[in-house]
Amino acid sequence: MSVTVRVPAKVNVQLAVGAARPDGFHDLANVFLAVGLYDEVTVTPAAELRVTCEGPDAHQVPLDRTNLAARAAVELAARRGIEPAVHIHIAKDIPVAGGMAGGSADGAGALLACDALWGTGASRAELLALCAELGSDVPFSLVGGAALGVGRGERLTALELGGTFHWVFAMAGRGLSTPAVFREFDRLAEGRDIPAPVASPDLLEALAKGDPDALASAVSNDLQPAALSLFPELADTLAAGRAAGALTALLSGSGPTTAFLARDAGSAEKVAEALRASGTCRSVRTAAGPVPGATVI
Ligand code: C5P
Repeated sequence: MSVTVRVPAKVNVQLAVGAARPDGFHDLANVFLAVGLYDEVTVTPAAELRVTCEGPDAHQVPLDRTNLAARAAVELAARRGIEPAVHIHIAKDIPVAGGMAGGSADGAGALLACDALWGTGASRAELLALCAELGSDVPFSLVGGAALGVGRGERLTALELGGTFHWVFAMAGRGLSTPAVFREFDRLAEGRDIPAPVASPDLLEALAKGDPDALASAVSNDLQPAALSLFPELADTLAAGRAAGALTALLSGSGPTTAFLARDAGSAEKVAEALRASGTCRSVRTAAGPVPGATVI
């Protein structure tokens, strides 16, 4: 017997970052949108915990207990006093170290899959608390849709959306480490007053209306200058997408994946073609959102 869970990637349409906190984390106002690029996590009973991975970026995925999917299984098993005796297989389609919550998706997916496999019957609240322990973006991978995340980004309020938004994602030739991007944010912020992060009312209204033009003028990502400082070539990818007719171009999360909002599915395909031809990125995908969070299939 095995259980498979499908989990979407995310893009941040707003990522407002406050000053570093005493615990090293940053307070955020983080507006997440789940988009239709998926990892599938399958768990099967096994003699002992084992992780395998397939997909274009599979060689970059750690298969030891640092993998968030392995940590999720270990944490849930420890809470129930059982052994995490599962084979976790990840069919990976979300870019690795890309700022699209690929690792978080696998954590949320493994948690939900193990809960179903072991019949642990965890409540939604317990699953969300476990997700928050695994990482700041993991709770959103579980719930999906669209949500405002505050605190580390893990305290979520669901947002109602008035329509579907069409995106193009350009994957970069190398990854960026999230802690490194936050450290660069701190370095660039030195000596400046950093305001408390708040969600933009214009952005929330654009989402509620499902209006891509209004959303395009309201998106923001405070980590973008830090990521560009570490990875200056990303500016060329952003420029290529804008020139191809994207309504807006921004970094996805802590990058280095770049995200381009299009008016509809047809113009998303055109922007994708132009980005592929631009030679400024490794690969290009289109995806629409919102889509549901982690789901047993
Ligand atoms: O929570 P998660 O493990 O995804 O965070 C990865 C790293 O990103 C943290 O170790 C921290 O350096 C940075 N981070 C942060 N503030 C947040 C979320 C993440 O500084 N709110």
